[in-house]
Amino acid sequence: MTKKSLVAKKVEDMQPSGIRVFFDLVLGMKDVISLGVGEPDFVTPWQIREAGIYSLEEGFTSYTSNKGLYKLRLGISRYLKQRFGLEYDPEEEILITVGVSEGVDLALRSLINPGDKILIPIPSYVSYGPVTELTAGVPIYINTRKSGFKLTPKLLEEHIDARPKALILNYPSNPTGVTYTRNELKELSRVCLKSNIFCITDEVYADLTYDFQHTPFATLPGARENTLYLDGFSKSYAMTGWRVGFACGPKEIIAAMTKIHQYTIMCVPITGQMAACEALVSGRKSVEEMKREYRRRRELVIDGLNRLGLSCEKPQGAFYAFPCLKKTGMTDMEFAQGLLKKEKVAVVPGSAFGKDFSDYVRISYASSYENLKEALVRMARFLKKN
Ligand SMILES: Cc1ncc(COP(=O)(O)O)c(C=O)c1O
Repeated sequence: MTKKSLVAKKVEDMQPSGIRVFFDLVLGMKDVISLGVGEPDFVTPWQIREAGIYSLEEGFTSYTSNKGLYKLRLGISRYLKQRFGLEYDPEEEILITVGVSEGVDLALRSLINPGDKILIPIPSYVSYGPVTELTAGVPIYINTRKSGFKLTPKLLEEHIDARPKALILNYPSNPTGVTYTRNELKELSRVCLKSNIFCITDEVYADLTYDFQHTPFATLPGARENTLYLDGFSKSYAMTGWRVGFACGPKEIIAAMTKIHQYTIMCVPITGQMAACEALVSGRKSVEEMKREYRRRRELVIDGLNRLGLSCEKPQGAFYAFPCLKKTGMTDMEFAQGLLKKEKVAVVPGSAFGKDFSDYVRISYASSYENLKEALVRMARFLKKN
């Protein structure tokens, strides 16, 4: 008799993250330059770390309110108002989450009835599709390769007949670094409002926008009530390990998300929340400094990749390059595995971000300038020999 699996079918059917699968190969290898993980190479700025340490010394070791420390929600509310003119009530319209990761999960679980369709432009961040499926939703992938990796009003309109409930829009984008101007976003929002498509925006790289001002989707005309704005401290403040994010939106959605959050998570750990409060007070200078360094690396990497024939548009945000491998004649797996084995440089195969992207790889430039220089030398050697 064949043994029946204990694991739920929908979990068994889930593919492990393409990034993780690949990085299992990296584990145990020595002297690898990893341009794989999407994580700042900076340590959290000292004043923020100190605030975390001090909170422990002071004995702040308890649960907080389910929604998160009021002080932090108020700080976020004030910050968004001052920076973008975006107003959210800290009592009812802001929830502190375990990173944007939890924000995405709660948003989808709060919105989806079985069979509801969710639009996901690809290539995309790895969690949107699997989490949609876990919640019995149906992901509808919109391929953006022909429009410079950008969702356009036309592409969006082509999917309206499927009657999607929501769109997940991430900008600046992981994995392409593409972002949108205010006018481009206005056009997308117009289609969403007209077609009754709710927008979940993942703006975790908002602070890492290099060439123009980031526009939060919720600031567009009529969009505030039709948008759930997700953001967090992981990327801009180099705080990935503290696990603090926030969701802002209409109170009906935030209340629904809070209901799930209170049963599953209770609250974000207090030390991280205390540190995040400090980040809003003294961390902005460090954000600007790190951003300057990422911009400098962007120039080096994009210039270097194009010289090697790995054609790549200049990304306008985040810290990723998404070069095309066509000229090499290799698939993403051949390129990534070969480069790792022969030259000890780790990059992520493009197919991790969508089925149709096996002619791309993702390169993270959240690594030191020296590492990036050396990685480009090794890539040149690899391409010469293959
Ligand atoms: C687009 C995007 N959204 C969300 C996350 C998760 O971020 P957090 O650490 O806030 O959970 C990442 C992390 O790589 C990301 O790239």
